[in-house]
Amino acid sequence: MSGKTLKSDLKKVLEDASKLIKDAKDLSELELFRVKFLGKKSLLNSFMKSLSDLDGEQKAKAGKSLNITKTKINDLISEKKKVLSNSDVKKDDGFDPSMPGKESSIGSLHPITKTMNYAIQIFESLKFECVEGPEIEDDFHNFTALNIPDTHPARAMHDTFYLADNNLLRTHTSSVQVRIMDKENPPIRIIAPGKVYRKDSDITHTPMFHQIEGLYIDKDISFSNLKSIINIFLKSFFEEDELKIRFRPSYFPFTEPSAEVDIEYIDSKGNKNWLEILGCGMVHPNVLDMANIDSSIYSGYAFGLGVERLAMLKLGITDLRLFYENDLRFLKQFQRT
Ligand code: FA5
Ligand code: MG
Repeated sequence: MSGKTLKSDLKKVLEDASKLIKDAKDLSELELFRVKFLGKKSLLNSFMKSLSDLDGEQKAKAGKSLNITKTKINDLISEKKKVLSNSDVKKDDGFDPSMPGKESSIGSLHPITKTMNYAIQIFESLKFECVEGPEIEDDFHNFTALNIPDTHPARAMHDTFYLADNNLLRTHTSSVQVRIMDKENPPIRIIAPGKVYRKDSDITHTPMFHQIEGLYIDKDISFSNLKSIINIFLKSFFEEDELKIRFRPSYFPFTEPSAEVDIEYIDSKGNKNWLEILGCGMVHPNVLDMANIDSSIYSGYAFGLGVERLAMLKLGITDLRLFYENDLRFLKQFQRT
């Protein structure tokens, strides 16, 4: 084996190998070519064996050329293997990695949940602490402790769902006021969001709805503090400095004086209208005394906001019941609000 002939032999081997490897149809054909060019019976291997016939310097040179050719063929095979492996997946499993993926639809929070969260965030920025109370209540916390004894006609204002054992589904979040006043001493500054239930259903009423209760008890709290916090909250919630807000005298047994707050809006026919969104007032001294808070020292205000009504006005919805029909075509409109 002379250096010159070896060089041209190796060149030929590399050319043959490149051609065949390039045209290999599949992985098994490629394997045959690997055996042909690099296997025990390959030409390269027989050259390797005959290296022992050569002397020192020649041997080193020839060995180097052989190794270079071997590496080149190996590289060609690996490259081709990668290409064939990808297209084999396509052929064998009917799986085409180049197809665009299936889009999975992403859910989002219900518009009422978003409205609640937004309102809670504003109150927290006004330093109200967020607390919760039970939805299944007893008569005492929902009525009696709020200055509504058994025989009080105000009970008729609440269309209550009664349960066994003198329990009921709370008709308002004011029951949480009672639980907090029992547990804590003034100053108390809380909001209590949650679900409430009444036998009610029309375009501005649903049997389950959400309220956010607010309660602030301290020394020297007055009705002007109440008005101011309601104004700040509503203007911030609706992001509208010119918002028309109306405090209308009202009656609740647990506050004195009491008011309801309406907001002006334009209805679907283009007429101006008022929608009631909350009830509020100065906590009645009887309620403070029943909770062992000295009404000669402390005073406080409370309010109960209707979350669905806030959402109706903010999102321009005319029938509140739509929020609970779970029609995705309706709900999806608010995915990004
Ligand atoms: C109350 O529930 C009082 N607890 C509010 C209160 C708290 C007064 C603290 C004083 C001190 P009212 O029944 O008006 O009040 O309900 C409050 C708000 O809840 C209403 O203004 C309205 O926005 C909303 N609301 C009442 N009933 C429904 C209903 N069925 N569906 C949707 N929203 C309702
Ligand atoms: Mg009312």
